[in-house]
Amino acid sequence: MSNIYQIALLFGNINWKGAGMGFRSVLAVLVLITIAGCSPTGKKPAETSGRIKIGFLVKQPDEPWFQNEWKFAQQCADSFGFDLVKIGATDGEKVLSAVDNLAAQHAGGFVICTPDVRLGPAIAAKANNLGLKFISVDDRFMGADGKFMPGVHHLGISATEIGKAVGRALSGEMKKRGWKADETALCAATWEELQTARERTDGAIEALTSAGFPPGNIFKAPQKAADIPGAFDAVNILLTQHAGVKRWLICGNNDNAVLGAVRAMEGRGYDAETVIGIGINGTDCIVEFQKSKPTGFFGSILLAPRRHGFETSEMLYRWIRDGVEPPNETYTTGIFITRETYRNVLKEQGLL
Ligand code: GLA
Repeated sequence: MSNIYQIALLFGNINWKGAGMGFRSVLAVLVLITIAGCSPTGKKPAETSGRIKIGFLVKQPDEPWFQNEWKFAQQCADSFGFDLVKIGATDGEKVLSAVDNLAAQHAGGFVICTPDVRLGPAIAAKANNLGLKFISVDDRFMGADGKFMPGVHHLGISATEIGKAVGRALSGEMKKRGWKADETALCAATWEELQTARERTDGAIEALTSAGFPPGNIFKAPQKAADIPGAFDAVNILLTQHAGVKRWLICGNNDNAVLGAVRAMEGRGYDAETVIGIGINGTDCIVEFQKSKPTGFFGSILLAPRRHGFETSEMLYRWIRDGVEPPNETYTTGIFITRETYRNVLKEQGLL
């Protein structure tokens, strides 16, 4: 029942002629209380106070990518006038208790990049129970059957296409430098348990092989953790196994995967002359590009952190406020950047 309707009912039931000043004062207070949203109707304050609150949960709050998502989500909250609660949810326990806390704070919903996509059914069940709306960002919820959960609204990257862009850029740069295919190998730092990550490295490999790169020179370094140390350790093992390779190309799930690989290669004497590494995100490699001397980290595909942070928050906000359901799936694209071009591209994209 809406507040206006409650007030109309209240007024309709009063015999105004018979009501003295005392009664009118009580009535006025009642009306004010109802308007202020503290009515004894059992409604949540967030529903009646007019100020919507949403959560934004990310799996790796230390990664610049996720800090960018938060930054743009905050810009969205500031421009629409809602409250944003940023939560670093690094494991399943933290996610589930954060969802409980959001409900206790009368939030209307949350955007989430889950630390584990297999938590999808548990997160969805909890949110639905508590009446919270939610949108997944970056990593898509996986059902018990190993398939994407239908009906969960999602915004992510066009992972295969972006992976292919990495592969084409690696091939282009290698040819530009005149590197021979038989002296060059590809190191793919992989994180295959996550579909978006697997599609990225598979896409890069596909584009490279279609450009003529020998499949026999492609080596995967499976990471045990999706961060710089995880890639560093995996690539160190690979380098021990293939110590004779003269020149390396590197692809990975994101900038951090490629940064870890580049550091491992530096430990074995490879440098900007013998390594071409191309990452994905374009947000976590800025410090690398700012170094006075070029490193093996040659370029990255700059994704759209503004869309991932602002647009998801806006979709959720409108869904809560106006009942406008977001599109089921939204996929974003990227732009190739290097040490030479990143400043201009980031400026054009409003990221600098
Ligand atoms: C995954 C990666 C992040 C980022 C996003 C983009 O979550 O772990 O680094 O690339 O995808 O959607």
